[in-house]
Amino acid sequence: MAKPKVHTFDAVIVGAGGAGLMAALYASKGANVAVISKLYPTRSHTGAAQGGIGASLGNVNEDHWNWHAYDTVKGSDYLADQDAVDVLCKDAVEVVIELEHMGLPFDRLDNGRISQRRFGGHTDNNTNKPVERACHAADRTGHMILQTLYQQCLKNSVNFFDEYQVVDIIRVGDTIRGVVAVNVADGEFHIFHSKGVMFASGGWGRCWQVTSNAHSLTGDGAAICLRNGIPLQDMEFFQFHPTGIFKLGILITEGVRGEGGVLINSEGERFMKRYAPTIKDLASRDVVSRAIFLEVKAGRGINGKNYVHLDVTPPTVNHYYEEDGEDRRIDEAYVQAKLPDIADFTRTYLGVDPVKEPMPVQPTAHYAMGGIPTDVDGRVLLDALKTPLPGLYAAGETACVSVHGANRLGTNSLTDLVVFGRRSGKHMAEYVKSAELLPLPDDAADQAMADFEMLRKSNGSTKPYQLREAMQELMTEKVGVFRVQENMDEAVDELRDLIQRWETDLIVEDKGKIFNTDLLEAWELRNLLYLARVTARSAAERKESRGGHARDDFKERNDTDWLKHTLCYLQDDDELELDYKPVTLGRFEPKARVY
Ligand code: FUM
Repeated sequence: MAKPKVHTFDAVIVGAGGAGLMAALYASKGANVAVISKLYPTRSHTGAAQGGIGASLGNVNEDHWNWHAYDTVKGSDYLADQDAVDVLCKDAVEVVIELEHMGLPFDRLDNGRISQRRFGGHTDNNTNKPVERACHAADRTGHMILQTLYQQCLKNSVNFFDEYQVVDIIRVGDTIRGVVAVNVADGEFHIFHSKGVMFASGGWGRCWQVTSNAHSLTGDGAAICLRNGIPLQDMEFFQFHPTGIFKLGILITEGVRGEGGVLINSEGERFMKRYAPTIKDLASRDVVSRAIFLEVKAGRGINGKNYVHLDVTPPTVNHYYEEDGEDRRIDEAYVQAKLPDIADFTRTYLGVDPVKEPMPVQPTAHYAMGGIPTDVDGRVLLDALKTPLPGLYAAGETACVSVHGANRLGTNSLTDLVVFGRRSGKHMAEYVKSAELLPLPDDAADQAMADFEMLRKSNGSTKPYQLREAMQELMTEKVGVFRVQENMDEAVDELRDLIQRWETDLIVEDKGKIFNTDLLEAWELRNLLYLARVTARSAAERKESRGGHARDDFKERNDTDWLKHTLCYLQDDDELELDYKPVTLGRFEPKARVY
């Protein structure tokens, strides 16, 4: 095997989505930075975020960052760390203005200010009515963030290694010395020797059957950290977005409901009125996803199937907009101007024109609330005492700074990316100024190279897709929207068996090196299997219902025993061990949720 080529930088950032690019932009102001991405940067999954970025600009109605903070904590079912939430909501205002100044083409109000729309769970704290807080660029907000930040990074001479897949970190004791990566084009190994490493490598929605996540969302960064002795936090909390395109899972933005769209069952009923009488279709995502699931279970899915309708047709076609004196902004021109992408998606994939007929939707696995534990500067934390691992950072969906707790509010993912990407980048730039570049161990890439060689040669009887489908099916059935003990315990055992089969009976058919996606997907599958196992195990232990973790056998939230974060470690003997750490509370006392 050829010796890996060594590149040296002050800092390397793994992943080129919103968090990675924002961090790179800031770190590059004081350091020599490389961004390593398995995709071309503008194909990163941030580009799929549609409806908006949350910031209390107050351009349409009165709004305040502390209202945003209260909604975020309440939406999190009180599991979010309130000090981190304050940072998120305060910084959001400044960062959105900064993005605007970088040239991000936000939609505008008539007075020239950034346009804002409603989103689930965002309220006027005095009236409990929805407030316009989501700043948007049509329904392509994430795409525009990605393009804007990528241009800024190029302007600031950030070094990009596109289509390089990071497969390991170089950790010696409690020091970080870089990462090991494979060049997808030719299969050669590279070492990136650095003082600081940051993971901004996204989520792992591909653990489930129906997901809004792209094929690339395989949780590589989180799985690499897990294998390197770093715990994963609150992995039992995975969000199902209520409105994915039926069967395909592709996101239909919550912005549709923000603009006036409504959910309808087979009886033509606007059923969210029963589940969340005040805020109805704009209740938080866990509530709406469960409502859809219950409607289907009660036989009120459309055509007897497991979907409902999302209706955005104008008032001339349906009557829902006349109800309750609600302010509806939708007509055909409005859909074309504000929701062009989702109109294209449903026309292309379903042959459904949303201005003429309702869209078939079902809950879709969307977002990991849990991940690599960090503080508000992106520093990765090793334990319940919050001991940082110097030089290692994480931000974005792969991280858990714990602003989303048990359930994330829509638009807060984009806010999280740019707020904590920026803070991590700044902190990392400061860190590498005074840190020493420690020598590389001779065997820095040996383990990763040996693992890949073994995987390439594997010649068993199980194809990767067979294990992937088995995992997705069992996660959907047993660790999905509603959960019970027996199912989750079975999932833990079955996932261990699937991992065993991955290790002993896999076949990788492409034995070559050039663009060997067969090999890389087999490697990614192991990441998904471990993250699924950690999710199932963390979920099986949490004997309560909170946010995205809804149990039929423990239906209530239990603050006495479970107002705490889960930490899950992978032991040397391949067993999982759980620990817990307290939630950072603040001025918002845990209260029962009222919908
Ligand atoms: O519904 C959406 O546009 C998704 C946004 C988000 O997940 O924050």
